[in-house]
Amino acid sequence: MKGIILAGGSGTRLSPSTDSINKHLLAVYDKPMIYYPMSVLMLGGIKDIMIISTPEDIGRFEDLFGDGSELGLNLVYKAQKEPRGIPEAFIMAEDFIGDDDVTLILADNIFYGQGFTTLLRNAMKKHRHATVFGYRVKDPERFGVVEFDANQRVVSLEEKPENPKSDFAVTGLYMYDSDAPRLAKKLKPSARGELEITDLNKEYLKRGKLDVELLGRGFAWMDTGTNESLFEASEFVKITQQRQGFKLACLEEIAFYMGYMSREALYEKGKAMAKNDYGAYLLDIANREHTQQYWDGLDHNPMLEVVE
Ligand code: G1P
Repeated sequence: MKGIILAGGSGTRLSPSTDSINKHLLAVYDKPMIYYPMSVLMLGGIKDIMIISTPEDIGRFEDLFGDGSELGLNLVYKAQKEPRGIPEAFIMAEDFIGDDDVTLILADNIFYGQGFTTLLRNAMKKHRHATVFGYRVKDPERFGVVEFDANQRVVSLEEKPENPKSDFAVTGLYMYDSDAPRLAKKLKPSARGELEITDLNKEYLKRGKLDVELLGRGFAWMDTGTNESLFEASEFVKITQQRQGFKLACLEEIAFYMGYMSREALYEKGKAMAKNDYGAYLLDIANREHTQQYWDGLDHNPMLEVVE
């Protein structure tokens, strides 16, 4: 399974905060926004990841993560000249995807919930051709909307419908087979001049190849595209972290639990940042003896299951 993080766009809804910096590098409480989608791919066991952003910003992401080896990842970077819609990512990543399956996540989407790793891994095991993740929201008209029957079979998909047929939004996390680039090339731009991910999903639906996984009521899914939602996401992260003392989307912690980063490397990284709260957290993990039992309240570590 390959991974793509789409971090393009001009972020005009967050101007002037985004006038000179990419939105996905803004902090969601105590770490850059892109850490959150990166954590999702890592928890899914994906190591080969392409980050796509604008020609102006792509270098900044490279400054942040380098080749990814510190986190046990193989990262590659690609500049998208103009934002022409989510499916264009598959056209750009055609060689990178090759014969593999691919998971794409939008860089402003935050997922959090007990058992998310297990849900993700199970979805990967079940994944056939295309899998989308549905989440009940109060304002489905703002999103792609998925309608499904009692057997959770997808009946229809619509992009930002005026009269939504269900309350379930399609989140910014998508899994496809290696056919995605070929099908993406056939799509025509929508009224907003972009290739639509909903149209790609409809292509799979037409062929009887689209599955939906539902994220239940215990989950938090947030997008961070407006000042209001960005602030709310920061508050959510702050409150959740403060109560239990676990950080969300601490990439070094995940790399350590996955066995990609040694205790020594974690300790050194923590020491170098010890004056701030993030570094102190890394040091705390590196100094704990039986760390794995802290993960997700489970007595086994689902991250160590192998994903093909
Ligand atoms: C995009 C997709 C939409 C999806 C949403 C999730 O919307 O087009 O189907 O529900 O991401 O964040 P956009 O961010 O382009 O408005």
